[in-house]
Amino acid sequence: MKVLVIGGTGHIGSYLVPRLLLRGYEVQVLARNPRPYYAEASTSMLWNEVEWIIADRQAEEKNGKWQKRMSEVDADVVIDLIAYTPEQNRIVVESVKDHVSHFIHCGTIWSYGPSSRVPYKEYYPRKPITEYGKMKAKIESELMEKYKKEGFPATVIHPGHISGKKWLPIDPQGTRNGVGIYRSLAHGDVVYLPDNGLTTLHHVHADDVAQIFELAILHRKAAIGESFSVAAPYAMTLVSCNEFVASLFGKKPNLKFVPLQKMSEVMDENAFEIMKDHVIHSPCVSIEKAQSVLGYQPRYTTEEIYQESIEYLLESKQLII
Ligand SMILES: NC(=O)c1ccc[n+]([C@@H]2O[C@H](COP(=O)([O-])OP(=O)(O)OC[C@H]3O[C@@H](n4cnc5c(N)ncnc54)[C@H](OP(=O)(O)O)[C@@H]3O)[C@@H](O)[C@H]2O)c1
Repeated sequence: MKVLVIGGTGHIGSYLVPRLLLRGYEVQVLARNPRPYYAEASTSMLWNEVEWIIADRQAEEKNGKWQKRMSEVDADVVIDLIAYTPEQNRIVVESVKDHVSHFIHCGTIWSYGPSSRVPYKEYYPRKPITEYGKMKAKIESELMEKYKKEGFPATVIHPGHISGKKWLPIDPQGTRNGVGIYRSLAHGDVVYLPDNGLTTLHHVHADDVAQIFELAILHRKAAIGESFSVAAPYAMTLVSCNEFVASLFGKKPNLKFVPLQKMSEVMDENAFEIMKDHVIHSPCVSIEKAQSVLGYQPRYTTEEIYQESIEYLLESKQLII
């Protein structure tokens, strides 16, 4: 079986492509550069088996070459990891629709919108509030519509906050702001949290995201016409993330609580905007459907994600305590 992974060298692809190769599939990867962002020593040899398609999607979408390239795709399964607008998705879908048996789109839990009922189940209404979430929700609804009307074999996967050994997780303040927070927690320095610190984060390790794409291919019939959330077994509050990370250094966190809007006074603007986005969404999704329909079994909890990532920061001397 031939599988094309569009954008297959990034956070997800670095784990997904080796999994697909180990299954014995012929794997084509489309990217601008023929190398994974995070090749692990244990899988680096496998990448020699990849059939590379080197192309710049954005540039080809502009100059019109992309549609022709997609209509010439020779694969049974197409996984699109990097479609962010309905237009981008439509071009691929219309080009491949007559010759693929499975099309898998990578969505996001941001298409769900801020949490109301938790854990969020896939059949709950989508109420996205960001442009990114709205675009992804529209892509999903168009794919599901196409499945219902024309039998187009689409599956949509919605990951939580993707993390990996070499890709910093959303940190215990709910942002991405380098390694300073880990140093603060290791030293018992003050960490500011928004409001009462009960915002939830729902991480997922990139290898668990890869796992569900692999399972969707294996259980094609059950996956077609369906959307799945993929995340760690449970979401965690900022307070509990801080407690866990501090405990790795034998400490208790020294937390100070500040109203959300005042957080901009104690952190930089960019980090504040990312944190605000996480506070507003406060995600917590159900993985029950992925477990019961596809047999998804997350290998990583949020604690394990932090531990792996912090061990790597220490080993690589990016974090010096
Ligand atoms: N980050 C998160 O926490 C998160 C959470 C939920 C959902 N998602 C979803 O995850 C997906 C992204 O997956 P990822 O995190 O694995 O992506 P990523 O790490 O950003 O990797 C992007 C991939 O696309 C390729 N690429 C980028 N620009 C390209 C271009 N112009 N032409 C061709 N290839 C290009 C990159 O390779 P080159 O650089 O070599 O071109 C790489 O293979 C998106 O659909 C996003 O909505 C992300």
